[in-house]
Amino acid sequence: MTILPKLHAIYNSAGLKPLTGHSTGHMFDWMDAPFTRFFDGKGIVGCAGLSLFEIMFLEHLAGYLTPKNILVIGNAHGWSTLAAALTFPEAKIVAIDPYEPGIALTNRLAQENGLKITAVEAYSPDGIKPACAEHLDGPVDFVLIDAVHTNEAIITDFAAAREVAADDCFYLFHDVVNWKMTEGLKHNQTTSGLDGRLLTRTPSGMAVLFKGASPDLVAYLDCFSDNPQLLQAYRDLVRQTMVKDSFGEAIAAL
Ligand SMILES: C[S@@+](CC[C@H](N)C(=O)[O-])C[C@H]1O[C@@H](n2cnc3c(N)ncnc32)[C@H](O)[C@@H]1O
Repeated sequence: MTILPKLHAIYNSAGLKPLTGHSTGHMFDWMDAPFTRFFDGKGIVGCAGLSLFEIMFLEHLAGYLTPKNILVIGNAHGWSTLAAALTFPEAKIVAIDPYEPGIALTNRLAQENGLKITAVEAYSPDGIKPACAEHLDGPVDFVLIDAVHTNEAIITDFAAAREVAADDCFYLFHDVVNWKMTEGLKHNQTTSGLDGRLLTRTPSGMAVLFKGASPDLVAYLDCFSDNPQLLQAYRDLVRQTMVKDSFGEAIAAL
């Protein structure tokens, strides 16, 4: 069963209509069209949460992982935190973010819906250890990193998360390709020695780092990633054959 109707119903009941999953091509080439914001009756609120497609990727992880303690770094209005709670109902979740209205909303929605979430107003990296110590029951075994979108920040977020995490923790990074954070991701993979995949077939170019994943989980992750050489060749072919070259003839005639 999918979590999607419940996730939408929770936000609709709070007067926030999810705007998510649209094609960039349908929305004036707006890069953020796939990602999640909300219509609050007056305008658009929120800050580019996981896209509908990425929530669907997340919810299928329940077939492979059973985390007990989850950390979300970058909660915003709680969209991905609530999605994680619906996906892994047995897990305790702590989410940190300095945005107070989002923290209050997330805690209210969690309470109204019996979800095991505590959202804490705090900054990564310093806020991670105290929040986990106070609100979780043991080492973190699933982390979503979606806060400051720079290479430096995902390195410090990851390092702080590692200090509270189990050895075989599963890390999910949002926006790695779209925000050009592949160098930070590579650094995290090299320094940790974890396995990883860049999920090039997700709208934001998410990434995962993990250890000791089952062959079934690896096969699932492989459905969302590409062989780098094949992807490069595919992109070259698309550029040469599928993209309309409006000015090619004029320029060739110079
Ligand atoms: C892209 S939004 C997160 C979206 C959210 N994960 C979702 O799917 O709805 C990024 C969030 O990171 C928060 N943020 C900024 N600096 C932070 C920090 N140092 N630690 C934790 N969160 C931070 C921002 O307040 C913002 O809410």
